[in-house]
Amino acid sequence: MSDITPAGLVFLGLTAVVVMLISVLVFSVIRLRAAARQTKHTFSEQRDTVFLTAAVDEVIQKLKAQERATAARADASEHLSTQIVAGLTSGLLVVSRAGTLRIVNPAARRILALSDANEGHYRELLAATPELAQVIEEALDTGAPISRRTIALVGRRGPAHLGVTVSPLRSATGSVDAAICLFTDLSAVMAREEQLQLKEALARVGELSAGLAHEFRNGLATIHGYARLIEPEALPERFRPYVTVLREETASLGEVVNNFLKFARPAPLSVARTDLGEVVLRAVADFASEATVQIRGDFGEIEGDEVLLHSAFDNLLRNSVEAAAATGARATILIDGASEGPEQWRIVVTDRGPGISPEGLSRLFQPFFTTKAQGTGLGLAIVQKVIVSHNGTISAQNSAGGGAEFRIRLPVRQPLPTQEL
Ligand SMILES: Nc1ncnc2c1ncn2[C@@H]1O[C@H](COP(=O)(O)OP(=O)(O)OP(=O)(O)O)[C@@H](O)[C@H]1O
Ligand SMILES: [Mg+2]
Repeated sequence: MSDITPAGLVFLGLTAVVVMLISVLVFSVIRLRAAARQTKHTFSEQRDTVFLTAAVDEVIQKLKAQERATAARADASEHLSTQIVAGLTSGLLVVSRAGTLRIVNPAARRILALSDANEGHYRELLAATPELAQVIEEALDTGAPISRRTIALVGRRGPAHLGVTVSPLRSATGSVDAAICLFTDLSAVMAREEQLQLKEALARVGELSAGLAHEFRNGLATIHGYARLIEPEALPERFRPYVTVLREETASLGEVVNNFLKFARPAPLSVARTDLGEVVLRAVADFASEATVQIRGDFGEIEGDEVLLHSAFDNLLRNSVEAAAATGARATILIDGASEGPEQWRIVVTDRGPGISPEGLSRLFQPFFTTKAQGTGLGLAIVQKVIVSHNGTISAQNSAGGGAEFRIRLPVRQPLPTQEL
């Protein structure tokens, strides 16, 4: 140690101080860098988190928008299907395999006159129309579709005919899950068809028999004419009654043939604007001394044959007078008119007579059906022909009061060219 000079000692001391300073400096730099690195790392982490949150937010917003759009689409499609089901003019019933009515649309309620309740088995709900329930049952049982079947609903109020289509609904496994039943009220179509058939039948009968009746009438007129020429007083006493009978019989047969010709002969309508009120008044005037007639309601103008329409009302009133006379009473008749929309008039003729017998109700309009000793049974056949040739309808029933009731419907306009029967 004695070799080291004081200057050397100072040098050594300084060197030691410098080394220490450098060490402190290096340590500080290392700490600083570590700290800096730490800070940098935290910033990046924070930036990542913010980015991630924004991305998740965006995805959530997109999903929400998508959910809203899907819900809106579902709402719109449900609204549309509800509207379609409600707006259908056909009746719609959806019946599950177990028999519950899943859907009953307003048209089905209207056509079948169902109440608002649709709880319960379809057979109970369709108790008033078992024919319809049977078609649904058939489709559920067989799994086969039923296409456009016409069913008749006999003997009750409401539609007389329904056109029915039933389609079974199958599950993924192929079993029948439900049945969709669509139906329409065919009453008007069937009535038109019946009307057409009646017109055709009347035309056929007319063609066939008019010629024959015409020949009869000519022959009868000749016999009647000669019978009138025979002077009973010029004959021996015992032959005189024969002439009277001959005259009476030929006269009455002549009336039958004349009436039959009126019914059977194809007669063109002579159509003009006709006031139904005036036609009715004129017919009523003919029976002023034999009946008490009350006229009620409205009567408008139609395109029609005044002479034929007058003869139709004349026949109806005559029948009421005769029916009352059979019971020894004076006839009391009510004629009630009303418009049924702008295109049709309804006239109901009701009397207070004995009413129509059950047999009569089903045969009333048939030619030659009569319950009267002197009747030809052609009066109502002629009435029906007149109304049908005007494209109208006539039906008969007994009124609540017991008398006969004839319900006539006549259209305001006639199609061109004029109908011939
Ligand atoms: N207002 C009525 N009340 C009761 N029965 C009626 C009435 N109108 C018709 N009938 C029944 O219908 C039958 C047929 O009537 P329709 O007018 O066709 O023939 P008719 O009156 O017997 O004979 P015709 O009219 O040819 O003289 C009548 O015989 C009668 O039995
Ligand atoms: Mg008559």
